[in-house]
Amino acid sequence: MRIYIDSANTKQIAHLNEYFPIAGVTTNPSIIVKENRPYLELLKEIRSIIGDQKELFVQTIGSTAEEIVKEAKYIRSQLTGNVIIKIPVIKEGIKAIQLLDSENIQTLATTVYTSFQAYVAAMSGAKYVAPYVNRIDNLTGNGVNVVAEIAKLFSHSELSCEILAASFKNVQQVHDVCLAGAQTVTVAPELIEKFIAFPSTESDVAEFKRQWENGIGSSSLYS
Ligand code: G3P
Repeated sequence: MRIYIDSANTKQIAHLNEYFPIAGVTTNPSIIVKENRPYLELLKEIRSIIGDQKELFVQTIGSTAEEIVKEAKYIRSQLTGNVIIKIPVIKEGIKAIQLLDSENIQTLATTVYTSFQAYVAAMSGAKYVAPYVNRIDNLTGNGVNVVAEIAKLFSHSELSCEILAASFKNVQQVHDVCLAGAQTVTVAPELIEKFIAFPSTESDVAEFKRQWENGIGSSSLYS
Protein backbone atom coordinates (compact mmCIF):
# COMPACT_ATOMS: atom_id res chain seq x y z
CA MET A 1 0.00 0.00 0.00
CA ARG A 2 1.08 3.57 -0.61
CA ILE A 3 -0.22 6.38 1.59
CA TYR A 4 -0.98 9.87 0.31
CA ILE A 5 -1.92 12.88 2.43
CA ASP A 6 -5.31 14.29 1.47
CA SER A 7 -4.66 17.88 2.53
CA ALA A 8 -3.01 21.14 1.48
CA ASN A 9 -2.06 22.16 5.01
CA THR A 10 1.71 22.65 4.80
CA LYS A 11 2.28 22.27 8.55
CA GLN A 12 0.50 18.92 8.67
CA ILE A 13 2.13 17.77 5.43
CA ALA A 14 5.61 18.59 6.75
CA HIS A 15 4.92 16.74 10.01
CA LEU A 16 3.48 13.61 8.40
CA ASN A 17 6.15 13.55 5.70
CA GLU A 18 8.76 13.45 8.46
CA TYR A 19 7.19 10.58 10.42
CA PHE A 20 5.21 8.38 8.00
CA PRO A 21 6.04 6.57 4.72
CA ILE A 22 4.24 9.14 2.59
CA ALA A 23 4.08 8.67 -1.20
CA GLY A 24 2.71 12.12 -2.00
CA VAL A 25 -0.09 14.64 -1.53
CA THR A 26 -3.54 14.83 -3.07
CA THR A 27 -5.51 18.06 -3.27
CA ASN A 28 -8.89 19.11 -4.58
CA PRO A 29 -10.61 22.51 -4.85
CA SER A 30 -12.22 22.24 -1.39
CA ILE A 31 -8.93 21.30 0.26
CA ILE A 32 -7.03 24.15 -1.43
CA VAL A 33 -9.67 26.81 -0.71
CA LYS A 34 -9.57 25.88 3.01
CA GLU A 35 -5.97 27.16 3.25
CA ASN A 36 -7.01 30.65 2.14
CA ARG A 37 -3.79 31.40 0.19
CA PRO A 38 -2.84 31.97 -3.46
CA TYR A 39 -3.11 28.41 -4.75
CA LEU A 40 0.04 28.23 -6.89
CA GLU A 41 2.18 29.56 -4.05
CA LEU A 42 0.60 26.92 -1.79
CA LEU A 43 1.23 24.08 -4.26
CA LYS A 44 4.84 25.20 -4.74
CA GLU A 45 5.37 25.14 -0.99
CA ILE A 46 3.90 21.63 -0.78
CA ARG A 47 6.27 20.60 -3.56
CA SER A 48 9.25 22.01 -1.70
CA ILE A 49 8.25 20.01 1.41
CA ILE A 50 7.78 16.63 -0.29
CA GLY A 51 10.47 17.03 -2.96
CA ASP A 52 10.23 16.41 -6.70
CA GLN A 53 9.96 12.60 -6.60
CA LYS A 54 6.75 12.23 -4.60
CA GLU A 55 3.50 12.65 -6.48
CA LEU A 56 1.50 15.87 -6.11
CA PHE A 57 -2.11 15.69 -7.34
CA VAL A 58 -3.91 18.80 -8.56
CA GLN A 59 -7.54 18.86 -9.73
CA THR A 60 -8.88 20.71 -12.75
CA ILE A 61 -12.10 22.73 -12.59
CA GLY A 62 -12.86 23.22 -16.31
CA SER A 63 -16.18 21.97 -17.70
CA THR A 64 -15.08 20.98 -21.19
CA ALA A 65 -12.35 18.59 -22.27
CA GLU A 66 -10.51 21.45 -23.96
CA GLU A 67 -10.56 23.57 -20.79
CA ILE A 68 -9.44 20.60 -18.68
CA VAL A 69 -6.53 19.83 -21.01
CA LYS A 70 -5.49 23.50 -21.00
CA GLU A 71 -5.61 23.64 -17.20
CA ALA A 72 -3.64 20.38 -16.92
CA LYS A 73 -0.87 21.78 -19.10
CA TYR A 74 -0.86 25.06 -17.19
CA ILE A 75 -0.54 23.31 -13.82
CA ARG A 76 2.31 21.18 -15.13
CA SER A 77 4.09 24.24 -16.51
CA GLN A 78 3.89 25.92 -13.10
CA LEU A 79 5.05 23.05 -10.90
CA THR A 80 8.21 20.99 -10.89
CA GLY A 81 8.43 17.26 -10.24
CA ASN A 82 5.92 14.47 -10.39
CA VAL A 83 2.50 16.05 -10.97
CA ILE A 84 -0.68 14.02 -11.55
CA ILE A 85 -3.77 15.77 -12.88
CA LYS A 86 -7.03 14.90 -11.13
CA ILE A 87 -10.03 14.92 -13.43
CA PRO A 88 -13.67 14.27 -12.44
CA VAL A 89 -15.32 11.32 -14.23
CA ILE A 90 -17.82 13.48 -16.11
CA LYS A 91 -18.14 12.87 -19.86
CA GLU A 92 -15.82 15.78 -20.73
CA GLY A 93 -13.38 14.47 -18.15
CA ILE A 94 -13.27 11.06 -19.81
CA LYS A 95 -12.49 12.77 -23.11
CA ALA A 96 -9.79 14.88 -21.44
CA ILE A 97 -8.18 11.80 -19.84
CA GLN A 98 -7.82 10.26 -23.31
CA LEU A 99 -6.42 13.46 -24.83
CA LEU A 100 -3.89 13.83 -22.01
CA ASP A 101 -2.96 10.15 -22.17
CA SER A 102 -2.12 10.58 -25.87
CA GLU A 103 0.39 13.23 -24.77
CA ASN A 104 1.74 11.06 -21.92
CA ILE A 105 0.28 13.33 -19.24
CA GLN A 106 -0.68 11.26 -16.20
CA THR A 107 -4.14 11.55 -14.71
CA LEU A 108 -6.29 10.38 -11.84
CA ALA A 109 -10.02 9.97 -12.40
CA THR A 110 -11.77 11.39 -9.36
CA THR A 111 -15.29 11.59 -7.86
CA VAL A 112 -15.77 7.90 -8.59
CA TYR A 113 -18.94 6.38 -7.11
CA THR A 114 -19.36 3.24 -9.24
CA SER A 115 -17.03 0.50 -10.41
CA PHE A 116 -18.02 1.10 -13.99
CA GLN A 117 -17.02 4.77 -13.85
CA ALA A 118 -13.62 3.53 -12.72
CA TYR A 119 -13.50 0.92 -15.47
CA VAL A 120 -14.22 3.46 -18.22
CA ALA A 121 -11.67 5.91 -16.79
CA ALA A 122 -9.04 3.17 -16.71
CA MET A 123 -9.81 2.21 -20.32
CA SER A 124 -9.40 5.89 -21.21
CA GLY A 125 -5.84 5.87 -19.88
CA ALA A 126 -6.14 7.13 -16.29
CA LYS A 127 -3.17 6.12 -14.16
CA TYR A 128 -5.35 6.09 -11.03
CA VAL A 129 -9.02 6.02 -10.11
CA ALA A 130 -10.27 7.49 -6.83
CA PRO A 131 -13.43 5.88 -5.43
CA TYR A 132 -15.01 8.03 -2.69
CA VAL A 133 -15.48 5.37 -0.05
CA ASN A 134 -17.20 7.28 2.77
CA ARG A 135 -19.33 9.36 0.42
CA ILE A 136 -20.55 6.10 -1.17
CA ASP A 137 -21.34 4.75 2.31
CA ASN A 138 -23.27 7.95 3.09
CA LEU A 139 -25.47 7.27 0.07
CA THR A 140 -26.30 3.86 1.63
CA GLY A 141 -23.93 2.19 -0.81
CA ASN A 142 -20.90 0.16 0.22
CA GLY A 143 -17.62 1.91 -0.55
CA VAL A 144 -15.45 -1.10 0.25
CA ASN A 145 -17.51 -3.30 -2.09
CA VAL A 146 -17.10 -0.74 -4.89
CA VAL A 147 -13.32 -0.88 -4.37
CA ALA A 148 -13.44 -4.70 -4.44
CA GLU A 149 -15.43 -4.61 -7.69
CA ILE A 150 -12.97 -2.18 -9.29
CA ALA A 151 -10.05 -4.40 -8.24
CA LYS A 152 -11.79 -7.40 -9.81
CA LEU A 153 -12.55 -5.56 -13.06
CA PHE A 154 -8.94 -4.38 -13.33
CA SER A 155 -7.54 -7.82 -12.57
CA HIS A 156 -9.67 -9.33 -15.37
CA SER A 157 -8.23 -6.91 -17.91
CA GLU A 158 -4.84 -5.76 -19.06
CA LEU A 159 -5.34 -2.33 -17.47
CA SER A 160 -2.44 -1.05 -15.40
CA CYS A 161 -4.59 1.55 -13.62
CA GLU A 162 -4.28 1.65 -9.82
CA ILE A 163 -6.96 2.28 -7.23
CA LEU A 164 -6.27 5.32 -5.05
CA ALA A 165 -9.13 5.04 -2.59
CA ALA A 166 -10.30 8.33 -1.06
CA SER A 167 -12.86 9.80 1.34
CA PHE A 168 -12.52 8.02 4.68
CA LYS A 169 -13.95 8.73 8.09
CA ASN A 170 -12.24 5.95 10.04
CA VAL A 171 -9.23 3.64 9.97
CA GLN A 172 -11.43 0.55 9.54
CA GLN A 173 -12.54 1.81 6.11
CA VAL A 174 -8.89 2.31 5.10
CA HIS A 175 -7.99 -1.15 6.36
CA ASP A 176 -10.91 -2.74 4.52
CA VAL A 177 -10.17 -1.11 1.14
CA CYS A 178 -6.57 -2.30 1.38
CA LEU A 179 -7.83 -5.87 1.86
CA ALA A 180 -10.31 -5.33 -0.98
CA GLY A 181 -7.50 -4.55 -3.42
CA ALA A 182 -6.74 -0.81 -3.27
CA GLN A 183 -3.03 -0.34 -3.97
CA THR A 184 -3.03 3.19 -2.62
CA VAL A 185 -5.11 5.39 -0.30
CA THR A 186 -5.34 9.11 0.33
CA VAL A 187 -6.25 10.05 3.86
CA ALA A 188 -6.78 13.20 5.94
CA PRO A 189 -3.89 14.01 8.32
CA GLU A 190 -5.89 13.36 11.51
CA LEU A 191 -6.73 9.85 10.32
CA ILE A 192 -3.15 9.03 9.25
CA GLU A 193 -2.09 9.81 12.84
CA LYS A 194 -4.64 7.24 14.01
CA PHE A 195 -3.13 4.46 11.84
CA ILE A 196 -0.74 3.49 14.63
CA ALA A 197 -2.52 4.91 17.68
CA PHE A 198 -3.50 2.23 20.19
CA PRO A 199 -3.82 2.70 23.98
CA SER A 200 -2.29 -0.71 24.87
CA THR A 201 0.84 0.13 22.88
CA GLU A 202 1.23 3.39 24.80
CA SER A 203 0.74 1.71 28.19
CA ASP A 204 3.08 -1.21 27.30
CA VAL A 205 5.83 1.24 26.32
CA ALA A 206 5.35 3.23 29.54
CA GLU A 207 5.53 0.01 31.58
CA PHE A 208 8.72 -1.18 29.81
CA LYS A 209 10.33 2.17 30.58
CA ARG A 210 9.19 2.15 34.21
CA GLN A 211 10.60 -1.36 34.77
CA TRP A 212 13.88 -0.45 33.09
CA GLU A 213 14.31 2.68 35.18
CA ASN A 214 13.54 0.75 38.40
CA GLY A 215 15.75 -2.23 37.53
CA ILE A 216 18.72 -0.58 35.77
CA GLY A 217 18.50 2.86 37.30
CA SER A 218 18.73 4.69 33.96
CA SER A 219 16.15 6.06 31.53
CA SER A 220 18.15 5.03 28.45
CA LEU A 221 20.32 2.16 27.16
CA TYR A 222 23.48 4.16 28.02
CA SER A 223 24.96 3.34 31.41
O1 G3P B 1 -9.73 13.09 -2.12
C1 G3P B 1 -11.14 13.14 -2.06
C2 G3P B 1 -11.55 13.51 -0.72
O2 G3P B 1 -10.98 14.74 -0.37
C3 G3P B 1 -13.01 13.51 -0.42
O3 G3P B 1 -13.04 13.25 0.93
O4 G3P B 1 -13.77 13.39 3.24
O5 G3P B 1 -14.46 15.16 1.59
O6 G3P B 1 -15.42 12.86 1.47
P1 G3P B 1 -14.24 13.71 1.85
